[in-house]
Amino acid sequence: MNKETEKIRRRYDRVSKIYDILEQPMEVMSLKKWRLEVTKDLKGKVLEVGVGTGKNIPYYTDDIDITAIDFSEKMLAKAREKANKLNKKVELIQMDAQNMNFADNTFDMVFTTCVFCSVPDPVKGLKEIRRICKSNGKIIMIEHVRSEQKVIGLVMDIFNPLTVNLYGANINRRTVDNVKNAGFTKVEVTNLTGDIVKKIVIYNEK
Ligand SMILES: C[S@@+](CC[C@H](N)C(=O)[O-])C[C@H]1O[C@@H](n2cnc3c(N)ncnc32)[C@H](O)[C@@H]1O
Repeated sequence: MNKETEKIRRRYDRVSKIYDILEQPMEVMSLKKWRLEVTKDLKGKVLEVGVGTGKNIPYYTDDIDITAIDFSEKMLAKAREKANKLNKKVELIQMDAQNMNFADNTFDMVFTTCVFCSVPDPVKGLKEIRRICKSNGKIIMIEHVRSEQKVIGLVMDIFNPLTVNLYGANINRRTVDNVKNAGFTKVEVTNLTGDIVKKIVIYNEK
């Protein structure tokens, strides 16, 4: 891992103890609904990238073959606790999304929730997803991005260094542009909260 990746990984190790508490207001307001929205469509051999403390694990259905990765061992430890408690079968692996240890075309589906705000080199991570997802496979992402509204976007730019330092997450990422820059061509975007939280569905044509 390079220095920048190591720095962000350590931030998530640091925040792992309080992540679920910090995130709870968002969970109640809307995240729970979006987690259900993503997980209900999963089929076949599935990869969750950036599983974190395992907030999506309760919603995994029993008919999928699921692997989940995260580069923070301490976030993963929390995910392991949840999986054990809920008796959910999931292979949890410490791995960097920018350099995944999976063969090309391994997964039918890949999904993320609030991850590409943090991946240090998002285009590199998205290119890796393109590689390890099968041709004609499906990628579903729920991600918060920079608002294109002038004032809100500017406020996000101003506060971004603070959230990166505290947490490891950028609030001003242009994730839809990053998806396109990673080479994906068939991309459907739906706004979930204003223009900030988006559902991005990608059909992996390659
Ligand atoms: C904001 S948290 C979201 C966690 C979870 N997906 C959720 O919905 O609660 C972002 C997660 O992405 C992970 N992450 C960020 N960059 C990563 C990378 N390059 N490789 C693997 N995991 C990464 C972080 O460790 C963290 O657990």
